[in-house]
Amino acid sequence: ETEEFLEAFQKRVDAEQKIEPNDPMPEGYRRTLVRQISQHAHSEIVGMLPEGNWITRAPTLRRKAALLAKVQDEGGHGLYLYSAAETLGVSREELTDQLLTGAAKYSSIFNYPALTWADIGAIGWLVDGAAIMNQIALCRCSYGPYSRAMIRICKEESFHQRQGYEILLTLCRGTDAQKKMAQEAVNRIWWPALMMFGPHDSASTHSDQSMHWKIKRFSNDNLRDKFVNATVPQAEYLGLTVPDPNLKWNEEKQGYDYSDIDWDEFWRVVKGDGICNRDRIKARQKAHREGAWVREAALAFAEKRAGAADA
Ligand code: ACO
Repeated sequence: ETEEFLEAFQKRVDAEQKIEPNDPMPEGYRRTLVRQISQHAHSEIVGMLPEGNWITRAPTLRRKAALLAKVQDEGGHGLYLYSAAETLGVSREELTDQLLTGAAKYSSIFNYPALTWADIGAIGWLVDGAAIMNQIALCRCSYGPYSRAMIRICKEESFHQRQGYEILLTLCRGTDAQKKMAQEAVNRIWWPALMMFGPHDSASTHSDQSMHWKIKRFSNDNLRDKFVNATVPQAEYLGLTVPDPNLKWNEEKQGYDYSDIDWDEFWRVVKGDGICNRDRIKARQKAHREGAWVREAALAFAEKRAGAADA
């Protein structure tokens, strides 16, 4: 790749022109996008598991319908994102294989269990809330197919976030036991949700280059701070506390100060040693095995149709 080529590419990016699949692009740009988009797709697919587990136990028909729709949306998001990754010359089979063999990363958050119904509320509010904060910025990503997928995905995520918040609002207005269950869910999910934004900026290997290429628009810490600032007032409205004794409004920076994240826990989970990592991969392997007949039938049907067209 010549200096000239890289400079011309950067000029396009700086001028806010979208890069499209058939446009020339640096190999590093392509690789970074395949990495990020496929990790994002895997996160959506694995993200169906903790909540899918609660569909049969949702407390009312209305809650069940909303949760079912949300989990289906996540499957859809995974599919858009795999398609966006495929525009960069990688195959869906290759990506699926990376997930099933444990070679691929996906968001750390989905390696935590959903223990109570209140966790479903807290996941919608905090996990989808964190996802939106990150994904709104990605709507302006320089790569066209990814940015367009994000626009639709964010609309659906915003419904997910509201359904979660409304579950917690209902619990917080309920009995003492329900409110306690809501508080315990927030205590469990708060820190893992903050970890979703990725390592501290000083440990983020890809941020500088990704921001230069306008794949990322904000740093990990920057988005994390925005999330804390937006979410603490929502916790106050619920009458719940955030499990951080050092959380404090800082007038000067017009934002909250908060404790350090437990980075040992973060890296442990990212590297495969969280509470649910093994179960998640096992569940995906099982789904893949049990779906083999669908793939085979679709292939046989396509071949039959192609044969009929030839005849
Ligand atoms: N969980 C697992 N791995 C993570 C996490 C996390 N929360 N945060 C960072 N990592 C990984 C990165 O993937 C990277 O690994 P790699 O080099 O093997 O690919 C490594 O840690 C270093 O991190 P960064 O250099 O900061 O990586 P990056 O610039 O890609 O930033 C981020 C990480 C912010 C997650 C980015 O990839 C991103 O915005 N992704 C799209 C959003 C997304 O994937 N959301 C998924 C959860 S939301 C949902 O599914 C509903």
